[in-house]
Amino acid sequence: MAAATVRLFLLLLPLCLSLTIVSATATVPVPELIRETCMHAKSHHDLCVAVLSSDPKSNTSDVRGLLEIALKLTTENLTKTADFVADFLDEADKKSTEPGLQQCLAYCEDEYIDAVDQLTNAAAALESKVYKDVEKWVAVAMADVKACQQECRDIPGDKRGLTKKNGDVDRLCSITLTINQILL
Ligand SMILES: *[C@@H]1O[C@H](CO)[C@@H](O)[C@H](O)[C@H]1NC(C)=O
Ligand SMILES: *[C@@H]1O[C@H](CO)[C@@H](O)[C@H](O)[C@H]1NC(C)=O
Repeated sequence: MAAATVRLFLLLLPLCLSLTIVSATATVPVPELIRETCMHAKSHHDLCVAVLSSDPKSNTSDVRGLLEIALKLTTENLTKTADFVADFLDEADKKSTEPGLQQCLAYCEDEYIDAVDQLTNAAAALESKVYKDVEKWVAVAMADVKACQQECRDIPGDKRGLTKKNGDVDRLCSITLTINQILL
């Protein structure tokens, strides 16, 4: 609400106002919009701010723009994790000393392939402003990642950080869903 008020204020500012006032107010709205938007992300607030601020465009984005940034970064993160899982599986297959690990990674590979597709669908839905579908596709991607996490849960060891990577994707999906909810 505050961001909207500031924007309205800027809109109504007479052009003859001093540059000092204009530049002092012009920097305020966007970080404020990020902060406000990320309030909704609750426990993921700090990650939300970090993620959105990492894109210079976030400074001039509205909520929809912030959602685009969040979805883009979530997709990049998820795609890299999908690649990681595929590589990890290749190596596990070559060694073939840990059948349980091979099995769960093969399962994860399929889940991640599906999850990448779902986020592609989500991007298309966002393009057409069908926020209900954005929610649906991101939620399916998130469920895919959860399924991978479940499947590998009982395999001991660090698994090269698979659990953390699944968690990262989960948190990013959650942040994306939270921003999308504002637009629903
Ligand atoms: C966004 O704006 C804030 C101040 O309003 C500035 O500190 C920050 O560096 C800017 N970020 C980027 C990525 O341009
Ligand atoms: C995914 O995002 C998290 C949180 O921003 C980050 O710590 C991690 O390095 C990212 N992973 C990849 C593979 O980009």
